[in-house]
Amino acid sequence: MTTTTPATPNESPTRSDVSHDAIENLSREDRAFPPSAEFAAQANATAALYDAAAADRIAFWEEQARGLQWEKPWHTALDWSGAPFAKWFDGGKLNVAVNCVDRHVAAGHGAQVAYHFEGEPGDSRDITYAELLTEVCRAANALESLGVRAGDRVAIYLPMIPEAAVAMLACARIGAVHSVVFGGFSAEALRSRIEDAQAVLVITSDGGHRKGKPMALKPAVDEAVAASPSVRNVLVVKRTGQDVEWTDKDLWWHDVVDAQPDTHEAASFDAEHPLFILYTSGTTGKPKGILHTTGGYLTQVTYTHRTVFDLKPDTDVFWCTADIGWVTGHSYVVYGPLANRATSLMYEGTPDTPHNGRWWELVEKYRVSILYTAPTAIRTFMKWGEDIPARFDMSSLRVLGSVGEPINPEAWMWYRRVIGGERCPIVDTWWQTETGGIMISPLPGVTETKPGSAMTALPGIGAQVVDDEARPVGNGGGGYLVLTEPWPAMLRGIWGDNQRYVDTYWSRWNGLYFAGDGAKLDEDGAIWLLGRVDDVMNVSGHRISTTEVESALVSHPSVAESAVVGASDDMTGQGIVAFVILREGVDPGENVVADLRNHVAHEIGPIAKPRQILLVAELPKTRSGKIMRRLLRDIAEHREIGDVTTLADANVMTLIGQGLDSANAED
Ligand code: WTA
Repeated sequence: MTTTTPATPNESPTRSDVSHDAIENLSREDRAFPPSAEFAAQANATAALYDAAAADRIAFWEEQARGLQWEKPWHTALDWSGAPFAKWFDGGKLNVAVNCVDRHVAAGHGAQVAYHFEGEPGDSRDITYAELLTEVCRAANALESLGVRAGDRVAIYLPMIPEAAVAMLACARIGAVHSVVFGGFSAEALRSRIEDAQAVLVITSDGGHRKGKPMALKPAVDEAVAASPSVRNVLVVKRTGQDVEWTDKDLWWHDVVDAQPDTHEAASFDAEHPLFILYTSGTTGKPKGILHTTGGYLTQVTYTHRTVFDLKPDTDVFWCTADIGWVTGHSYVVYGPLANRATSLMYEGTPDTPHNGRWWELVEKYRVSILYTAPTAIRTFMKWGEDIPARFDMSSLRVLGSVGEPINPEAWMWYRRVIGGERCPIVDTWWQTETGGIMISPLPGVTETKPGSAMTALPGIGAQVVDDEARPVGNGGGGYLVLTEPWPAMLRGIWGDNQRYVDTYWSRWNGLYFAGDGAKLDEDGAIWLLGRVDDVMNVSGHRISTTEVESALVSHPSVAESAVVGASDDMTGQGIVAFVILREGVDPGENVVADLRNHVAHEIGPIAKPRQILLVAELPKTRSGKIMRRLLRDIAEHREIGDVTTLADANVMTLIGQGLDSANAED
């Protein structure tokens, strides 16, 4: 086992050691926000965490793991002899559901609310830890009564309702491996995931409420299950009451689960027992089943949830807005918060139903104190205007988080000012389905933050930015983000295809995990994410990140959101094409395109000046909110687009719309 090299600012080599940057470093940010003395005085995290992890990284992680309840202690904290297949806390045994639920009830916290559930139509329900325990025990008994055994795979295809968390915990309790499939995915996406995992059971519902209407889920399940011989039963939660077709595999959740005993004796499982598979789209199109296991995963999500969000179990109300179909929902709606005995808000619907202030109304209603969401949501709220959140009392908020994409500095500033009332620290958290938990983030109360930067690797995590030869680029340089040390919540492979795991993540440079993201280090060594390297543009030999140009555009007062792509160009190799959404109420005027081009040139340099700017009303996004640049590239390359296109042309938008439908099936 090698010792750690955390990516602390002062350990990076200087610029003179470096031959060239793999990606240009164009923008500069001078604003910085040190933690307030009041926040620092009460913060869960202190700078000592960095020292402890630097002194002995493995001992540091063992210390974090000891916060969980183990039935049997581990004998080996990290076995990396089979690299890149890690074993963490080998020999240890624990039960994830017991850690998330039973132990809090046993400690006298049964009456504490685990979830405030708010349905889109306005129905609501509070579930205490004691009630959650009963529900999970019944569901675990139900799964066993259906013949589900430890190691079996269970597909979960549900809206954001409490049964989703109950189903996941019931699987974890009996050692079954869940595979949650986002409820917005098609029957074919569900079928291919069921088949890949050979799931024996599907847990679903009649439907869910979305944008003011019941959205059916069961028909997609019927179609998928008809073509899935591995599935023995389908357990159906009644959520909307809409009509459903019934097959002989189908059982109502309320018939099967409610009839079960409300206690269940939980066995413990090996630290490396599989906990879940979560499919993520690969570049080749075949979904990758990212495999996570038990002890290391729970250790890291619990530790990061406590320190990054400064969670105080007795007083905070935590709201992670992600759907449980994404890893963010797994780690920060279910496992991390419950292991820390958090009170969370779970909301079923969309931010614009029945009105554009719904989220802020919920913040006011539940006194939400920690909000964790995605830049795409923040930019949408920027577009709608700040008068909407201004109508609600959001004084309960004290920490704000961001995840999923680079957050543009202006969106960060808006989030801080309009949502956080200038008082809440912002944690921009970089991680992936593959990493299982947060890897790079400020620690509130410790880190002086910069708008748009995820800052540095968390204590216990090794990250670097390297060039094509895997040499660290040094402060001021741009290149590829790599992880230099195994971490507890790391993926343990790709389900059924371990060679693909090695090829995808570990083959570019020996011993380094390549995340696929570009990044740069600023003069202080803070990390700035630059987007997926597949999106990097090559303009006259300069490798320019889409993120930097997008952030320059968003820093213009008229712009709410932008997506930038490189389109082939006879003169320059690639030319920069920008799609821009203006803020609501902004008059496009005659000169807006010229203004924006000059603005980019002024902010980050003439080399980054877009060749074309298109004003559009919408951008194509994956269901988790990431901009689909591939689609925009197609549009930019194959369509005749005038040099100065001022308003959304219907054809472009139709194309965007068509692409969205087919693309959604994969991601
Ligand atoms: C991107 C989501 C910049 C990145 C947890 C990563 C980010 C991918 C950030 C993983 C961030 C996530 N700043 N980029 N704070 N967080 N990303 O698997 O490209 O859905 O590789 O996991 O999202 O997306 P995934």
